Amino acid sequence: MEAYTVAIVLDDMISTGAKFQFSVLGTDISTSVLQLAETGIYTPEMIAPVPAELAKRYFLSSRDPARDEVRVIPRLRRSTNFMRMNLMDEVYPVDRDVDIIFCRNVLIYFDKPTQRKVVEQLCTHLRPGGYFIVGHSESMIHNESIMLQQVQPTIFTV
Ligand SMILES: C[S@@+](CC[C@H](N)C(=O)[O-])C[C@H]1O[C@@H](n2cnc3c(N)ncnc32)[C@H](O)[C@@H]1O
Repeated sequence: MEAYTVAIVLDDMISTGAKFQFSVLGTDISTSVLQLAETGIYTPEMIAPVPAELAKRYFLSSRDPARDEVRVIPRLRRSTNFMRMNLMDEVYPVDRDVDIIFCRNVLIYFDKPTQRKVVEQLCTHLRPGGYFIVGHSESMIHNESIMLQQVQPTIFTV
């Protein structure tokens, strides 16, 4: 859902006049998580936090009334891709000019030295001035050994 949330926010900005193109890459170590994400299918309860106006524009109800589910619209699914990636790997098969990396609620699984290594490795994939965004539980990743500047509690730049 996180990748589609980013795609919805960006697409909504474009609909109000912002001029840019985007693509979102969602990664996870779990193939079942990725398979579920790729379908873009959710229950109405799962998308309840989405503002009604955005839900109307970005989700379609099933044609089968027996299926109480909605699906992300095809256009948004086309600009949102998913790939299996283990953050513990030595190399990430990802471009090195990424504008924003969201890394929410994942670093908490790693010990401190691994957190530092993962953050530093992820940041080598950001363009200069790109942003690295973590969850509120992870805002403490900022320390002297990490080459990040904190711009907001959970937002960093390189
Ligand atoms: C609590 S969920 C957070 C998902 C999402 N970022 C969010 O905030 O909603 C943590 C995710 O991290 C993934 N994960 C755990 N270890 C990982 C690793 N070594 N590399 C990549 N993903 C990992 C899990 O499969 C799980 O889907």
